[in-house]
Amino acid sequence: MSGPYDLIVIGTGPGGYVCAIRASQLGMKVAVVERRNTHGGTCLNVGCIPSKALLHASEAFDEANRHFAVMGIEVSPKLDLAKMQAFKAEGIKGNVDGVGFLLKKNKIDHYHGTGKILAADKVSVTFINGETKTLEARHVVIATGSGVAQLPGVKIDETTIVSSTGALDLKAVPKKLLVIGAGVIGLELGSVWRRLGAEVTVVEYLDRILPGMDGDVAKSFQRILEKQGFVFRLGHKVTGAAQTGDGVSVTIEPAAGGAAESLGADVVLVAIGRTPYTDGLGLAEAGIALDAKRRIAVDSHFQTSVTGVYAIGDVIAGPMLAHKAEDEGMAVAEIIAGQAGHVNYDVIPGVIYTQPEVASVGKTEEDLKAVGIAYKSGKFPFSANGRAKVNRTTDGFVKVLADATTDRILGVHIIGPSAGELIAEAAVIMEFGGSAEDLARTCHAHPTLTEAVKEAALSVAKRAIHM
Ligand code: FAD
Ligand code: NAI
Repeated sequence: MSGPYDLIVIGTGPGGYVCAIRASQLGMKVAVVERRNTHGGTCLNVGCIPSKALLHASEAFDEANRHFAVMGIEVSPKLDLAKMQAFKAEGIKGNVDGVGFLLKKNKIDHYHGTGKILAADKVSVTFINGETKTLEARHVVIATGSGVAQLPGVKIDETTIVSSTGALDLKAVPKKLLVIGAGVIGLELGSVWRRLGAEVTVVEYLDRILPGMDGDVAKSFQRILEKQGFVFRLGHKVTGAAQTGDGVSVTIEPAAGGAAESLGADVVLVAIGRTPYTDGLGLAEAGIALDAKRRIAVDSHFQTSVTGVYAIGDVIAGPMLAHKAEDEGMAVAEIIAGQAGHVNYDVIPGVIYTQPEVASVGKTEEDLKAVGIAYKSGKFPFSANGRAKVNRTTDGFVKVLADATTDRILGVHIIGPSAGELIAEAAVIMEFGGSAEDLARTCHAHPTLTEAVKEAALSVAKRAIHM
């Protein structure tokens, strides 16, 4: 038996490792248990970081192919996919090594093995060689993340029928890529392979892309992606996929019922969501309850149904985002230390790292209509922003939604260049309870893309200048 620790964290993804570091800063003796050989979880190993490396590299390739000439730069880019994959691998290594360094710096013990909860104060670790060890702690945080949601009739082999993990690691550009699910993964990874030359068809069950995103933004995004060559089969469900001699034959049917048809592809990407990862944790035996969606149920202090055992990140309710997991990690460490840790779920930005980027924070128009909140809307297109015009990145707009009575900003939705960076100021102003007037009266540097945010805020009161 090792310990006793003040805290054991199971899983060192963005939720777990941040929680461990914060707890150590607060003076706790901390251990982490991680079954991967590396730290950083889904996000650093097979999620955010590798996908952004390939999005960055494929965007550079696409820029060189399609946009350099207009600026008077003549090049003939040639793809070396193995080198691009090595670029991605180096980016992952730099990041996961960084987490290892931080854990060490904060004097956190780490055990590479599978963690199981034996009791509120006991965690067993099973190492790869089969040996086990029991650790003792006053508190346990479960941060085991999520896994790929499976589609009946479509068996993932990570070669021709892949999840995001396989799609990040393809050794050749598929001629035809069929993506199941027009969500974040489908559109980001579809973009990577489209830019590198694949024909991309996306089959989506609903009659729109990106459910949950502001409808206006989603419509505009779909049009832009179609211009880039994406083909969407909305309102269709996949009912099966079979290997053929030279690829995969996928059967689809209209979601509302109707005749089936077959689509051929070299590679099929299954991207229909992710499910909380709770396998083998011993939850039932320990009396830890799940909610109706099989996520670990927690109270407002992230405590599970067992006192002293907490859960954070993808394994509990809420958006499956790295920064949400990180903020919960910090909050739960502070709560355990007797402080007032807190996460404001009304202000969690979401970004899709495509070209153009899509970013949003707060309520969508659909959300506000559904709950009957009266709002004002201001919109400003990048085609009227000086910096976007000179850069020739004029697709998209900024939309600011403010309370009709108080003018408080309730949501900001951006599709356009650097949307993922621009959304940060919206999050800050919303965190401070700011109004559209506050944003409109804040001086923004010229010429920057941020002026589009200011103009959208001005437009809430119908006084945008450059429109
Ligand atoms: P995870 O990162 O999943 O970490 C959980 C860890 O727990 C894993 O390392 C796992 O090995 C370990 N574990 C599980 N069970 C046990 C056990 N019993 N014992 C020991 N260890 C265990 N989010 C963003 O915000 N931005 C992005 O750009 C983004 N891009 C993404 C791209 C892809 C392709 C994918 C798949 C996801 C992406 N996400 C992104 C989502 C993001 O990765 C997750 O929201 C985030 O990783 C959740 O963090 P977590 O700490 O809850 O869990
Ligand atoms: P998602 O929930 O974003 O999208 C899944 C899509 O698949 C939805 O549009 C859904 O309607 C559709 N769908 C579901 N079942 C279907 C079926 N049988 N046939 C056809 N379509 C079907 O899930 P995704 O893209 O797999 O991503 C998982 C999680 O990872 C998301 O929650 C996201 O937050 C996170 N992520 C975040 C990123 C970011 O922040 N940039 C990048 C990638 C992933």
